[in-house]
Formats: sequence, C-alpha cells, structure tokens
Amino acid sequence: MESLLQPIRQFLHCDTPREWIEAAREPENLSILLIDHLVCELKAAQSAMLLIRRYADDAASGDALLAWLKPYEDFTYRMQGDWRQLAAHERLTKAMLPKRDAPYSQELIDKMVLLIKEELHHFYQVLEIMDELGIAYENISSSRYARGMLKHVRTHEPATLIDKLICGAYIEARSCERFAALAPHVDPQLAKFYVSLLRSEARHFQDYLELAEQLAGHSIDERVRFFGEVEAQLIQSPDTEFRFHSGPV
Ligand SMILES: [Fe+2]
Ligand SMILES: [Fe+2]
Repeated sequence: MESLLQPIRQFLHCDTPREWIEAAREPENLSILLIDHLVCELKAAQSAMLLIRRYADDAASGDALLAWLKPYEDFTYRMQGDWRQLAAHERLTKAMLPKRDAPYSQELIDKMVLLIKEELHHFYQVLEIMDELGIAYENISSSRYARGMLKHVRTHEPATLIDKLICGAYIEARSCERFAALAPHVDPQLAKFYVSLLRSEARHFQDYLELAEQLAGHSIDERVRFFGEVEAQLIQSPDTEFRFHSGPV
C-alpha cells in the first residue's frame, strides 16, 4: 500500500488533517461519508464522459455514452430505479464507440472508457456496502471542494480542458489519500473496501495528468502547483459541513 501511496503523497501538498479523520470516525457521520463517496464515484464517471464526448462527438457515440450513465443518474438525482439492477449496466465497451482517426484522441477515449467502467463499478460497490450497513440513499448537498478548484479553471481552450484534467487529478489523488487515512479507523469490512479502491484508483490521477500534459504540449508544472495550493487550502481550512472531501469541521 505504501508504494501506491508514495507518488500520491508526493503530488498532494498536504495530508488529511487529524480533525477530519476524527469527524469521519463519528458513527453519526458514516452515512454522509458513504453517500457523498457514492456521488463522487458517479461524478468521476460523468466528468470522464464529458471529456470523451468532446472527442467522440458523433451522435451514435454520444447516445451510447448517455444511455450508459442514465440509470446511475436516475438513481442518484431522481431517486428512481432499483440499485441492484445497476450491475447489469456496466456493459459499455470500447468497441461500442467508433474508432477515431487521430491516435491521440483514441488514447484519451480508451483511458476514459476504462475509467468510467471502474468508477461505475465502485458506485455499485458503495451501494452494496451501504446495503450491508443498513444505510439508505438520500440526496445530500455537495461539498465546496470540487467547486472551489473548478472556479479557477481558465475560460479559453485548450487551457480549460488542461485545468479540468489537473483538477480531476487532484480529486482522484485526494480520494486515494483519504481511503488510506480512513482504513485504520473504520470497521474491517469497510477498511478492506477502501484498500481495494486505493489499488484501483491509484493510477487515475496520473492518467489525468498525462492527458493534460499531452494536450498542452509543454510543461504544465506551474498550473499543477497552482491547483495543488488551492486544493491544500480547501483541505486544511475549516469547513461548514462534513463531506468526503471537506476540510475539518
Ligand atoms: Fe472510483
Ligand atoms: Fe477514480
């Protein structure tokens, strides 16, 4: 686990504060922790899908992608459908999307399709854990975290896409760092799940960074450092609500 975490810790500018871990251990925060995590998995899938749709912009691919995520969105935002049916929807494969001419776009699509599959699988796994723990899904407000980073995204292309990919990298890396920070403090079954997620997610932040670098065609170190500082500020400064990516409350 330490070898997986080392590049993540190097990338992030700070560790999760002790006070956040203390709050996460409170039994009354467990349902918020899991529900917010659940929604984060869907958002990770959605943002990867938005990135693909910029490239796979033909109608057939667009429709296939939208149909793939729709049952998950219906469940999460409209409280519609039975979550157990969602496992049957983890079915979109790379082959369902037409091949692109530009090899670079194809690489982005392949990476993002794999990422969406993984995130949707995690979404289902969180629902399974919630079911075992007797936690029912309900709508909750999102934290300031992603918004706090995305408001600094530049408004011209390709800078917008580069910045969004860097934000995505930080969100992924922080999630991994938090899984590792939480694992020793939660019940063994949940701890095992967090460690399995860490293994599956550890590569995601680098996928985003590599894509951002390729897209820029030059060093993105300065933007990475900038968002690293913004991210650390959001993680370390007092927050109003406890969430998976909140600051200390
Ligand atoms: Fe995930
Ligand atoms: Fe991820």
